[in-house]
Amino acid sequence: MPNNEFGDFQTPLELATRIATLLDAAGYSRVLEPTCGRGTFLSAVAAPDQDRIGVEVQPSHAAAAATFGTILQRNVFTLSLGTDLPWTSDGPLLVVGNPPWVTSADLSRFGSANVPVKTNDRGLRGLEARTGSANFDVAEYIWIKLIRELAPQEPTIALLCKTQVARNVLAHCAELDLPVSGGRLYPVDSMRWFGANVDAGLFVLDVRPGAASYTCAVYESLGSGPTGRRFGMVDGRLVADVDGYAATRAADGRCPFVWRQGIKHDATQVMELVSVSGAPHTKAGDPVDVEEEFLFPLVKSTDLFRGRTASAAKWMVVPQRSLSSPVSFSLAPKLWTYLSTHASVLDGRKSSIYRKRPRFCVFGVGDYSFAPYKVAISGMHKTPQFRLVSPLDGRPVVFDDTCYFLSFDDLATASVVCAILRSSPARTLIESLVFWDSKRPVTKKLLQRIDILVLAGLLDRDRLLDDAAALGSCARSDLSRALLTLAGGRDHAGSTQPSPTGG
Ligand SMILES: C[S@@+](CC[C@H](N)C(=O)[O-])C[C@H]1O[C@@H](n2cnc3c(N)ncnc32)[C@H](O)[C@@H]1O
Repeated sequence: MPNNEFGDFQTPLELATRIATLLDAAGYSRVLEPTCGRGTFLSAVAAPDQDRIGVEVQPSHAAAAATFGTILQRNVFTLSLGTDLPWTSDGPLLVVGNPPWVTSADLSRFGSANVPVKTNDRGLRGLEARTGSANFDVAEYIWIKLIRELAPQEPTIALLCKTQVARNVLAHCAELDLPVSGGRLYPVDSMRWFGANVDAGLFVLDVRPGAASYTCAVYESLGSGPTGRRFGMVDGRLVADVDGYAATRAADGRCPFVWRQGIKHDATQVMELVSVSGAPHTKAGDPVDVEEEFLFPLVKSTDLFRGRTASAAKWMVVPQRSLSSPVSFSLAPKLWTYLSTHASVLDGRKSSIYRKRPRFCVFGVGDYSFAPYKVAISGMHKTPQFRLVSPLDGRPVVFDDTCYFLSFDDLATASVVCAILRSSPARTLIESLVFWDSKRPVTKKLLQRIDILVLAGLLDRDRLLDDAAALGSCARSDLSRALLTLAGGRDHAGSTQPSPTGG
């Protein structure tokens, strides 16, 4: 997205005008556009007798913007915004604009000096720590600088930025106790307006003294109303849906079972096989003949997402039962021949995890991989879809490393756990915790936070048993017993947890 070190792309006038209307910009006697470029926002907000100031580092842009207000051709990072701006009046202040969309990593790629002044400042250091000092967004610095330096003037600040920036800013305001009385986020179609595929929006914060609120109402779009959802801080933690979280937070704790990631092998063309007339072949179309005990039905994240778990259409070659016990190839001559034939691919795997490990090894294998029943979810998709996965052709199903799963020895417990995870409170909790625009929204860490036992307590027992029965065609008495055992685990939390395989 960044086109140069200044994150220099100008906002179309039509978008700036819509934003000015939404904010009722004409009602403010003072308007500041902190990185004003050619002054599009200043021109869009223009009202008679309004005091307008822009700051822009590039001289040609600053000159172009001069038609629309007083322009300081300066670096915004070195200005003291509380004292250096030549206002000729006072009164309500609106800060509006579109700060550069560049990260510190972009800046070092450009070899740019356009970096925020480093200080020993607690605020800025905290921000770096939060966002990862190698990759903080310049817009976040500008946000925090504006809020802190202009707070006595109680501005409303409305800037176009990435959704991720809005979240970081809100969390950071809470950390620093900045006087913010809540925000609004209006998503914008960044592809339409800027030709870039980024989750972004107009983030508006009211900086006011008094009771602080670190939540942000999310709107449908610039032109339509609130979604009813708010993200923000609850008990020092950033959540995606404040109200959904409030309703289910009791289950935000610790899952009594251990979530696992699928098998990592980094050699799809060797380890993952497809079916040709029901027989395993490489993706290149070569038939594969290895001892059957090393072949397992494979379900991938898209299969999980779409519910394609009922027939074996793919396989994975799994040469080990655990990382610490590599296979004895002398007992598996066909496997050895197959892997040796593809040695160049396997030996050429780049990840350092394969160094100093047995030849041809894979990661993420253990007893849990070979348990018969699993409850699994794709880590790649943007809607949580938990699936109950049973053996195929009498063999336990394995997953690749884009999936997460719990494993069980008995179908009844797996069915009950899956039904709990598919329930409405589980979904509410997950939706309240997950920011779907993240690259990998569903993570092991997130799943491990979901306390299945507390969720079970929130559900109607008969309904839960019906749902579990529909999933796994288990006898109701078995399901009922499995649920009782689970609940018993809660009573003895920490000592006698029900134990799924490898859990
Ligand atoms: C995304 S553009 C937006 C321009 C304008 N606000 C608009 O919406 O059309 C970001 C602007 O910030 C300016 N800029 C970048 N770094 C700056 C800095 N350190 N101080 C002041 N302006 C800066 C760039 O030159 C560019 O014009």
